[in-house]
Amino acid sequence: MLRKDEQRQRDLFESERNFRLLVEGVADYALYMLDPTGTITSWNIGGQRIKGYAPEEILGEHFSRFYTEADRANGKPQRALQIAREQGRYEEDGWRVRKDGTFFWASVVIDPIYEDGKLVGFAKITRDMTERREAQLKLEQMQKQLAEAQKLDALGQLTGGVAHDFNNLLMIISGSLHILRRGAGHDAKSQRALTAIETATKRGAALTSQLLTFARRQSVNPQSIDVAERISAVREVLETGVGGNVTLEFDLPSAVLPVTVDTSEFETALVNLVVNARDAMPGGGTITVSARPQAGDGTGGNPYVAISVKDTGSGIAPDVLDKIFDPFFTTKPIGKGTGLGLSQVHGFAHQAGGTVKVRSELGNGTEVTILLPREANAPQADAIDTSERGGSGTVLLVEDNPDVASVSISLLEQLGYSVRRVADAEAALRAIEHDGIDLVFSDIVMPGKMDGLALAHRLRQIRPGLPILLATGYSDAAINVRGDFPILRKPYEIHELSQAIARLPR
Ligand SMILES: Nc1ncnc2c1ncn2[C@@H]1O[C@H](COP(=O)(O)OP(=O)(O)OP(=O)(O)O)[C@@H](O)[C@H]1O
Ligand SMILES: [Mg+2]
Repeated sequence: MLRKDEQRQRDLFESERNFRLLVEGVADYALYMLDPTGTITSWNIGGQRIKGYAPEEILGEHFSRFYTEADRANGKPQRALQIAREQGRYEEDGWRVRKDGTFFWASVVIDPIYEDGKLVGFAKITRDMTERREAQLKLEQMQKQLAEAQKLDALGQLTGGVAHDFNNLLMIISGSLHILRRGAGHDAKSQRALTAIETATKRGAALTSQLLTFARRQSVNPQSIDVAERISAVREVLETGVGGNVTLEFDLPSAVLPVTVDTSEFETALVNLVVNARDAMPGGGTITVSARPQAGDGTGGNPYVAISVKDTGSGIAPDVLDKIFDPFFTTKPIGKGTGLGLSQVHGFAHQAGGTVKVRSELGNGTEVTILLPREANAPQADAIDTSERGGSGTVLLVEDNPDVASVSISLLEQLGYSVRRVADAEAALRAIEHDGIDLVFSDIVMPGKMDGLALAHRLRQIRPGLPILLATGYSDAAINVRGDFPILRKPYEIHELSQAIARLPR
């Protein structure tokens, strides 16, 4: 009988000792006891490792010292014990403080302990989750960026397709308008109506082109330009745009900063940024347009040219900042903003191989920076010509859309050309067998086995000297052309058509 008791005592002692060793030795968790008021009554290796206190420093202290000052002031430690008592358990993830004052992200569990129905204290388990939390945050950040990129991509494809159809429509409207202008009576009313249509068409073309740039399709006319020189060239336009109470300043280097971009898209992006800056400063302020070279990322990366537009305006709220590049996102009243400005800027920068960065603080202004890859060589000057020249000879027009064809024919005829029209590439190849074609003007996107580009390559083989001009309303179609043939962007005006023909190599 006695021996049995002894044995049991020994077993109990043994198991308690094992248990104590286990608890004290666990290094990954702080495992300790509190008395019913929250005073620390036991401590383990994990507690020492995570929180930095040796047992003699911490036993007898109140556990609230692990909380942040703000949490203590709010009565959070007392509340935790109360919840544990009332609900049988308290769990929380939150910031705690180590002995050295640094914060760590803790996962905390508090269990009340009862003996014979009476609360004798609390078991507290704390785990340091700082690293896991950081990894988690990084992962979430990456997922967010990926989702953002995918969203913009999908929207880009959609808008690209719509813009193609739109440009054909606009081509028909603007071309027909040109014909009407010539035939119309000169009464003021019809002239006003025509002018209204013209303005609306130009606006439609500008919007469509913003959409296309956003769609991040390859640009149609990449050219080597000097950033500072281009900015100076549109200086006047920008100045008239900002209005009286806004000061526009320029900070441009004398050094040449060459980049390869579509000039008109570059200018549009600049205008979009300056207009946004102006809109953010209804009470006046200063806009600074600057350009500067920027070294690569320090790891031997390529150099950039940074073009930034900085304002002293309202700034952008953090929750809005995520959305500003989305097409059609605007915080402006109806009729004031379409929400396409920054979409264009984004698309432009990316298709030029660069990127856009925004720095903004609510109430403290905004700085949008376009980073473009910096070219090694200085750009060559290229004279700009806006005249409308007459021509002669026969043009073979290859265009599947009959309405677009009829306005193109009319524009070509006005320029003095005779026109023969076919609807697809195969018909064009048959027509070319007869003599008398001086120039081929073909749409790129066409139904049938051969598109405009394939036709152009074929013609170059069989008729090496024949001038070829391509047209497209959809810059995706221009990607494969890669400068092999000149391209005219739809919708085009009569002077643009005449210049494009005049520039053809013969
Ligand atoms: N410089 C800026 N300061 C403050 N907010 C800005 C600034 N630039 C852009 N934003 C915010 O981003 C939104 C989107 O800009 P975005 O240029 O794409 O469209 P929008 O200016 O509203 O319209 P749109 O440019 O088509 O006329 C704006 O409505 C505005 O809320
Ligand atoms: Mg805008």
